[in-house]
Amino acid sequence: MRLTWKRWTVCTISILLIFYKTKDIARSGEHQEAQLTGDGELIAFRLMVNSSEKGSGRSVPEVPQPSGDGWRVNSSLVLMIRKDILRFLDAERDVSVVKSSLKPGDTIHYVLDRRRTLNVSQTLHKLLPEVSPLKNRRFKTCAVVGNSGVLLSSGCGHEIDSHDFVIRCNLAPQAEFAADVGLRSDFTTMNPSVIQRAYGGLRNATDRERFVERLQALNDSVLWIPAFMVKGGEKHVEGVNELILQRGLSVKPAYPSLRLIHAVRGYWLTNKIHIKRPSTGLLMYTLATRFCDEIHLYGFWPFPKDSQGNPVKYHYYDTIKYRYFSNAGPHRMPLEFKTLKILHSKGALKLTTSKCMQP
Ligand SMILES: *[C@@H]1O[C@H](CO)[C@@H](O)[C@H](O)[C@H]1NC(C)=O
Ligand SMILES: *[C@@H]1O[C@H](CO)[C@@H](O)[C@H](O)[C@H]1NC(C)=O
Ligand SMILES: *[C@@H]1O[C@H](CO)[C@@H](O)[C@H](O)[C@H]1NC(C)=O
Ligand SMILES: *[C@@H]1O[C@H](CO)[C@@H](O)[C@H](O)[C@H]1NC(C)=O
Ligand SMILES: *[C@@H]1O[C@H](CO)[C@@H](O)[C@H](O)[C@H]1NC(C)=O
Repeated sequence: MRLTWKRWTVCTISILLIFYKTKDIARSGEHQEAQLTGDGELIAFRLMVNSSEKGSGRSVPEVPQPSGDGWRVNSSLVLMIRKDILRFLDAERDVSVVKSSLKPGDTIHYVLDRRRTLNVSQTLHKLLPEVSPLKNRRFKTCAVVGNSGVLLSSGCGHEIDSHDFVIRCNLAPQAEFAADVGLRSDFTTMNPSVIQRAYGGLRNATDRERFVERLQALNDSVLWIPAFMVKGGEKHVEGVNELILQRGLSVKPAYPSLRLIHAVRGYWLTNKIHIKRPSTGLLMYTLATRFCDEIHLYGFWPFPKDSQGNPVKYHYYDTIKYRYFSNAGPHRMPLEFKTLKILHSKGALKLTTSKCMQP
């Protein structure tokens, strides 16, 4: 268990997928699918991935064209996808639980382990946003930054920072990699396990200070903490929340709703994308469709080599290895990637996996 915690990483939401409620999901997915088929609006998007190919693709795919190519956004497709996704979830609402929906002492059943519960503490309740941090927000262009080593030597930092809204995953280091990944972040996800892995569980003053400095560098970014997925990280979340309050940090904590992950999975399942659990990167793209007119993805490359055969690190900032094609883990990142590539070619999003043009 401890080992899994450590290996569990970046753009992944949580780990211990022990008693996954597959049946519930399948049922709600079917229900929604029936509704959607009823008025036939999903059709354009339906056949995206040839399902007889979905399990294959162990090889490294062709790289999408280098940036600066003839990619153009297809705004009507973007609108259609936004509308489809809204049938499953509304990012404005599902991006965070709000204060009025809980009170201290309430019991929450963990989303992926419903037999275990969490008590809502005073501290957590104090930090719940009054309204959704995305309420009425609209952006022309957004960047969703994954953490693949493909970003190293990309020179994409400047381009990433030039978007109107920048989403980053799992509190990945930025300052040391600024030229390739950029500095700006408006929305930063953080799995509770990061606290253990990168900040010693906040057990001593040095680690706590390092963590506070990291959060200070985020200014008033949303800090999105999936606190209700599985038991195991609650002490860390409490520690983070206490520090935010004690130090008066300006990050804006948010805690995804209990239905978010199932709703996102349901949407992709309805489009025949058979993922066990969406990666944080796919989750962020799905949320971003609600409020971004153009979505640019960077740092998505779930393969151990690039198209020339050079090794690519799983994360740009550490040496963790990942078995992309293993069926043991909860994610299907190569399948997700294939889907994103098709969406790129249709102009629904832009996927950058190569170097960026320097300004
Ligand atoms: C799906 O892929 C299989 C195998 O690659 C191919 O034989 C089949 O024609 C494809 N179907 C469609 C609808 O593209
Ligand atoms: C944009 O996407 C829609 C829906 O898939 C399609 O019908 C339309 O032809 C596309 N437009 C362009 C310019 O590619
Ligand atoms: C939650 O609160 C109840 C009642 O206050 C208590 O009995 C229970 O042990 C608490 N559970 C946890 C996990 O702290
Ligand atoms: C925080 O603000 C500084 C100064 O405006 C800026 O340079 C930096 O990029 C911001 N950090 C983030 C994470 O957006
Ligand atoms: C704090 O803990 C870290 C490990 O998380 C250790 O490397 C460091 O030496 C400790 N610092 C102090 C002052 O105890």
